[in-house]
Amino acid sequence: MATHKLLILPGDGIGPEVMAEVEKVVAWFGRQGVAAFETERGLVGGSAYDAHGEAISNGDMALAQAADAVLFGAVGGPKWADVPYSKRPEAGLLRLRKDLGLFANLRPAICFPALAAASSLKPEVVEGLDILIVRELTGGVYFGEPKEIVTLEDGQQRGIDTQVYTTSEIERITRVAFELARTRRNKVSSAEKHNVMKTGVLWKQVVTRIHKAEFADMELEHVLADNCAMQLVRWPKQYDVIVCDNLFGDILSDVAAMLTGSLGMLPSASLGAEDPATGKRKALYEPVHGSAPDIAGKGAANPIATISSFSMALRYSFKAIEAADMLDKAVTNVLASGLRTADIRSDNTHVVGTAGMGDAIVKELQHLAG
Ligand code: IPM
Ligand code: MG
Repeated sequence: MATHKLLILPGDGIGPEVMAEVEKVVAWFGRQGVAAFETERGLVGGSAYDAHGEAISNGDMALAQAADAVLFGAVGGPKWADVPYSKRPEAGLLRLRKDLGLFANLRPAICFPALAAASSLKPEVVEGLDILIVRELTGGVYFGEPKEIVTLEDGQQRGIDTQVYTTSEIERITRVAFELARTRRNKVSSAEKHNVMKTGVLWKQVVTRIHKAEFADMELEHVLADNCAMQLVRWPKQYDVIVCDNLFGDILSDVAAMLTGSLGMLPSASLGAEDPATGKRKALYEPVHGSAPDIAGKGAANPIATISSFSMALRYSFKAIEAADMLDKAVTNVLASGLRTADIRSDNTHVVGTAGMGDAIVKELQHLAG
C-alpha cells in the first residue's frame, strides 16, 4: 500500500474547524486501506505570525517541500490588519505557491443540483454547471518586480506593480488547460486583455501556437477578460475550461464560485511541474473561501470546500480516482438528503454545524462502501 505524506496547515479563522472535518475523512480512507496517510501539522498565516513572527516558518516550509500534498485551510483576519506587509497572513500562502512552484491553480465551479436555488442567478442558468478555471499562479502582477511604493521629488508617492509573463510560463499553463479539457468537453477559452496589455498580446500568441502545434483537434477560443466576467454571469455553460493569468484568474474564479450558490462549496488544487524522475508534482489543496473571521469558532462553517479539496488531492496527487469519485458522491448525497450548513440553508432543509456535516459525509462514505 502506498504511503502519502500530508502536511496539514489549518491557518486562521474557520481554517482549523473545517480542517478537523477533513482529518475525519482522511482517517476514514486510511482505515479503508486506500493508502497510508502520514500527517504532519504546521502553522501558516496569522497563527504562524503569532508563534514565529513570520507568516510561515522555514521549518514548516521544509515540511511543505517534503510533503506529497499540503492541505491548507485559510489565512487572515482583523487581528493581523496592522502587521508589516511582508509578514501579513497572505504572505504565507504566496510563499508556499512561489517556493513550491505551484504554477497551475485548478478552480472547478460545479453547481450541485440540490443548490441551484441558492445561486443569485436563475436556476436554468446554473443548473448542471461544471466549468474549470485554470489560473496561472506564480507569475504576473502578484510577483513581478518592481513592486513598491516610492516617494517622488515633489513629495507624491507612486505605487508600482509589474505585470510580466515569459513564453515558458504561458506555455506550461496552456498545456495544463488543454490536458484537462481533454478529460472534459475539449474546449479551452483563453482570457486576457490583448487590446490594452503587452502581456495579453504575448499570452494570446503563445496560447494560439501551442494549440496549433499540440492540441489542434480541440477547440480554442479567445475572450477578453472583462467580457469573460460578463459572459460568466450571462450564460456560464458556454465554457468548459477557462485559462488565464494570475490576477484575472483571481477575479474570474470568485465570479465563477458565486454562480454555484456558495463560495463555501468550492475546492481548489495548486500543482507544480511533474518531476520526471518520480512522476510526482508538488501540490497544495485549499478551499476557495477565506478565513471568515465573523463566524470563526462557532462551529457553523461549511467544511465541504475543504473536504472536496481533499477529493482533488486523491484525484491529482494520489491517482485514487475511485476514492475521489466516492467522496464527491458522498457530498452530493448528503446535500440531496437535505442536510445544510447555515450558509447554504434554504426552505425545507435541515441545518447542521461544521462537525455535523463532516460526520454525515463520513457516514455516507461508510454507506457507499457497503
Ligand atoms: C485566492 C486569494 C488569494 C489571492 C489571497 C488570499 C492572497 O484571494 O486564493 O484567490 O489573491 O490569490
Ligand atoms: Mg481570490
